[in-house]
Amino acid sequence: MTAKVRKAVIPAAGFGTRFLPISKAVPKEMLPIVDKPVIQYVVEEAVESGITDILIVISRSKRAIEEHFHPIHELEAELEMKGRVEEVEMLRKLQGMARIHYVWQPRMGGLGDAILHARDHVGNEPFAVLLGDTVVTTREGSRPVTRQLADIVENHGGSAVALQEVPVEKVSRYGILGGEEIAPGLIRASQFVEKPKPEAAPSRLAVSARYVLSPRIFDVLQSTPKGRGGELQLTDAMASLMKTEVLHGLRYDGQRHDIGNKLDFIRANLHFGLQREDIGKALRDYLKELVG
Ligand code: G1P
Repeated sequence: MTAKVRKAVIPAAGFGTRFLPISKAVPKEMLPIVDKPVIQYVVEEAVESGITDILIVISRSKRAIEEHFHPIHELEAELEMKGRVEEVEMLRKLQGMARIHYVWQPRMGGLGDAILHARDHVGNEPFAVLLGDTVVTTREGSRPVTRQLADIVENHGGSAVALQEVPVEKVSRYGILGGEEIAPGLIRASQFVEKPKPEAAPSRLAVSARYVLSPRIFDVLQSTPKGRGGELQLTDAMASLMKTEVLHGLRYDGQRHDIGNKLDFIRANLHFGLQREDIGKALRDYLKELVG
């Protein structure tokens, strides 16, 4: 039995080139879905999955992320004085969710390079990776995807990744995993390729922004050559690690909102906005009027 998954790494250093010009000075991870930044949804998923310690990998112009999770005592005092109890509680809950630490990734060397920057903090235990620009939801009543992956690793060892089936014309945008389905939705991986051409893809199962990794990944990353785009690819290191340690893929029942992409950003705001008690009905009426 493997150790419990207690720590998470959230890579949030990338430029966000798909979302220029807003991403120039505003981190894409700080873009709002209704009234919460994307990265707060990501931290909440980690916390709901039993994670108590989070390391966020940041870079230049990402300081707003630190400020978001840091207490502002003057603001709390002011709200308290005005009797705005709910807002004070909301702020305290946000600031007390987990121990959050930060590390800088000085150069954009790829997802693998970002993860290597977490080595000293994580140490020798399995850890979760949640991409900071992507919200993953599961069907009402089911556990968060990160928790489901942690269960697989705590029971079977090795590593695990979340998977979603994508149309064949989109396989070249993702890490694609191939293997044998050993239980409904659970795949034992034998191939893992970063952004393959459709004809070279082992399947249509795309890695979907959530991982639970064995700490052995750090040694493997250290000796992995640069891959696609001249960057150190996490997928390449996982494909090497797979030769000595088991890798499972989980085809989860839920949705992925990649906020680094304009259409998904707007969709996510509609999706979450429509579920909100305060604005859901008015938004639905407006949408009907707009398209009807
Ligand atoms: C990264 C990973 C890729 C994965 C994708 C979505 O790519 O390298 O394997 O499928 O995230 O989780 P990126 O979107 O950063 O290019």
